[in-house]
Amino acid sequence: MIALQIRRAAPVDAAGIVSVLEVVSAERIHTAIDRVWTVEQERRYLESLSPREAFHIAVDGTQDIVGFQTLDLWSPLLTSMAHVAQVGTYLLPEWRGRGVGRQLWNATQSFAREADYRKLAIQVRGSNTAAQAFYRRLGFRECGRMARQVMIDGIEDDEVLMEFLF
Ligand SMILES: CC(C)(COP(=O)(O)OP(=O)(O)OC[C@H]1O[C@@H](n2cnc3c(N)ncnc32)[C@H](O)[C@@H]1OP(=O)(O)O)[C@@H](O)C(=O)NCCC(=O)NCCS
Repeated sequence: MIALQIRRAAPVDAAGIVSVLEVVSAERIHTAIDRVWTVEQERRYLESLSPREAFHIAVDGTQDIVGFQTLDLWSPLLTSMAHVAQVGTYLLPEWRGRGVGRQLWNATQSFAREADYRKLAIQVRGSNTAAQAFYRRLGFRECGRMARQVMIDGIEDDEVLMEFLF
């Protein structure tokens, strides 16, 4: 396990978050995000998060953001789903497989418990078996699959739904 600082992101972290997302999106194989939003859009999004929503970031010794994990309400509109949050995780390639995802999860999970969620859900690309294995290891289980849900550069992919029940 690497010594990194894990902390809750603030709007000022928007540029570092977008930098990570640009790298992961450019790989084309891990995420359904094929076009990354601007730093300003990301900053506004971070500002708009409710007290029950949080991004956690992993920061190295030079204060650069090397990865982050999101936790948003599954539905900002439906109070019947206020107990459900969605999660996403994005790390720079050189930081993968070194325990950073697990450290982010420890922070996200304790935040989610304190915020009274009963359930977390994620959508993972069908071809991203590494991320599915990661989430399974954290305690998520597969609960559905949407066929041909993603199309990037003309290549279709499924989305696998996974859930974690507290
Ligand atoms: C998927 C991702 C978030 C995982 O984070 P990570 O830091 O590489 O994972 P960790 O090293 O913290 O591993 C955590 C646990 O998952 C397991 N795990 C991670 N990757 C795995 C794999 N490919 N196969 C099996 N188990 C795996 C580890 O063995 C570890 O188990 P342990 O903590 O019980 O020992 C990271 O690799 C990543 O950002 N990948 C590219 C982007 C992506 O795919 N994001 C998901 C989009 S939904």
